Amino acid sequence: MIYYKTAAEIELMRQSALLVSKTLTTIAAELKPGISTLSLDKTIGEFIRDHGAIASFLNYNGYPFNSCISVNDVVVHGFPNKAELKEGDICSIDIGVILNGWHGDHAYTFAIGDPGPEAIKLINITKESLYKGIENAIAGNRIGDISFAIQDFCEKKNGYGVVRELVGHGLGRSLHEDPQVPNYGKRGSGPMMKEGLVLAIEPMINMGKKDVFTDRDGWTVRTKDGKPSVHFEHDVCVKKGKADILSDYSIIEAAEKANPNLFTGA
Ligand code: MF3
Ligand code: CO
Repeated sequence: MIYYKTAAEIELMRQSALLVSKTLTTIAAELKPGISTLSLDKTIGEFIRDHGAIASFLNYNGYPFNSCISVNDVVVHGFPNKAELKEGDICSIDIGVILNGWHGDHAYTFAIGDPGPEAIKLINITKESLYKGIENAIAGNRIGDISFAIQDFCEKKNGYGVVRELVGHGLGRSLHEDPQVPNYGKRGSGPMMKEGLVLAIEPMINMGKKDVFTDRDGWTVRTKDGKPSVHFEHDVCVKKGKADILSDYSIIEAAEKANPNLFTGA
């Protein structure tokens, strides 16, 4: 069942998405070699609760942390842990909140120090693919138009592996609503989109092959070939002509540029 949101509900969802953006911005300022992902998770939980919201991932299907922090070959759902980030790591941070009953859920991948040109290219291409998907999130298009745009750019044009096992999703009063938003598919396939549909679009792109496996912890998804993977996610509302991006990367990017420990490649 697809739920379309009213204009007033979309403004509430923008606040939820923005709280995630602000949390990621705080973390972007703190990232450095030597910091543990568990301490970042603690900061994330405190920031969310200090802003009157709930960390939605915590206890979701038994998930044991506030956030997912996925380093290098971890694709998504990485457990924050005591290991320290080191120079050259790439690190996706995925955060979800419930604010006033509405979910925000998005992610950003950071480079700690210089991970080298290949990893920087993977980060840039994955972020660009997210925007190519978003360009297609317009009323009258089908979900497959988003999927095709991401797959075509990452797989065909850049030779990367597009993860099949995990997909984007509708977002609203629940973290995962219909429809699913795969990062692969055929143009013109899938459900037709109408104004008021809110989607979490989240390409998960591997430098090597598309194949992944889940660790014995039951959550951590890793690449089979051990090569790095990158994850970006935005919350967007479908509109006529141009999607409305509810989350805000500009504040995260400003903090990223201002932090000398982070490499942006720009
Ligand atoms: N962004 C991910 C998703 O949409 C995060 C979910 S992690 C979980 O599925 F812990 F909440 F499952
Ligand atoms: Co999501």
